[in-house]
Amino acid sequence: MTQSTAPGKIILCGEHAVVYGRPAIALPLDSIRATVHIEDGIPGSGVCLCAPNLEREWIVDENSTDPLGELLFSTLRCLGLSIDHVRVTITSDIPIAGGMGSGAAVSTALVRALMTHLGQHTLPPSEVSALVYACEKRYHGTPSGIDNTVIAFEQPIWFIRTSASGLPSPERHATSLNPVMEPLHIAQPFTLVIGDTGIRSKTRLPVGELRRRWESDTAFYEGLFDQVGEVVSMVRGHLEAGSIAAIGPLLSENHELLQAMGVSSHELDTLVAAAHTAGALGAKMSGAGWGGVMFALTEPSDSNAIAHALREAGAAHVLVTRVGRNAATR
Ligand code: PMV
Repeated sequence: MTQSTAPGKIILCGEHAVVYGRPAIALPLDSIRATVHIEDGIPGSGVCLCAPNLEREWIVDENSTDPLGELLFSTLRCLGLSIDHVRVTITSDIPIAGGMGSGAAVSTALVRALMTHLGQHTLPPSEVSALVYACEKRYHGTPSGIDNTVIAFEQPIWFIRTSASGLPSPERHATSLNPVMEPLHIAQPFTLVIGDTGIRSKTRLPVGELRRRWESDTAFYEGLFDQVGEVVSMVRGHLEAGSIAAIGPLLSENHELLQAMGVSSHELDTLVAAAHTAGALGAKMSGAGWGGVMFALTEPSDSNAIAHALREAGAAHVLVTRVGRNAATR
């Protein structure tokens, strides 16, 4: 039996505007992971995918239209190999549809597990990311590609979505993935307290709604996205300079811009306000919104108080994470 894992992720800043060509920063969350086990099955039994957490078990083949089945067989085609009678068990401690990249983590763990099982480590992270991106499109419509990139590379990243022509374009996005991805140097480790509203929202819903609003008032939303882009650039400068306290107000400003886009929610705003009251350096929602998670940037000594305040304000789960030089660790 072989086993591979992949981390969750959190978008530090720039979500939504990233779909429209502005930069975003994302971090892997090493302490919550998706795991895929592969073991030989009974000859003739085919390829069986099992998701015990979801109480689901299903057979996939070359003609499957199931996104994970398609990913499995497209990975095999990339590797130039075939597989028969295996049992693929998928587990994850990343909340589904919670803004922490559960889908991309499961897909990445699946591609890694196939490579391990077949003794082939030939695909570099960029190719793993591209395979997972194709699967993400099946689930989310027109994702920017930030989730698969940060999870496949498993390091903090600066990300700009571009079209094949090199020009940022939401319209051309669906057919191409050619992002600018730079590993980010984090000069000074910092602490995040992540609060999960417990409300599950599909990424494509707020993304689609924002698209409709952008179409009806493009100038207004482009203005918001420009402001987000400036905030994200400033956050990068402070991360690289180790000026952690200076990042707090920028994250809070990003939250206000996301509110103006209409992708936050009462529950997210309540948790963000509770984090501020408890002494956070800054706080914002993260990911697609209308549910999912928010986080607070905090001094390590304040993390327990902020975690307590988030629980009191209704957070279903709270995770304290230390983000270091090349990886995010608990
Ligand atoms: O739902 P999440 O956490 O994967 O976040 C989606 C991020 C968006 O910028 C809203 C969409 C995207 O594809 O980048």
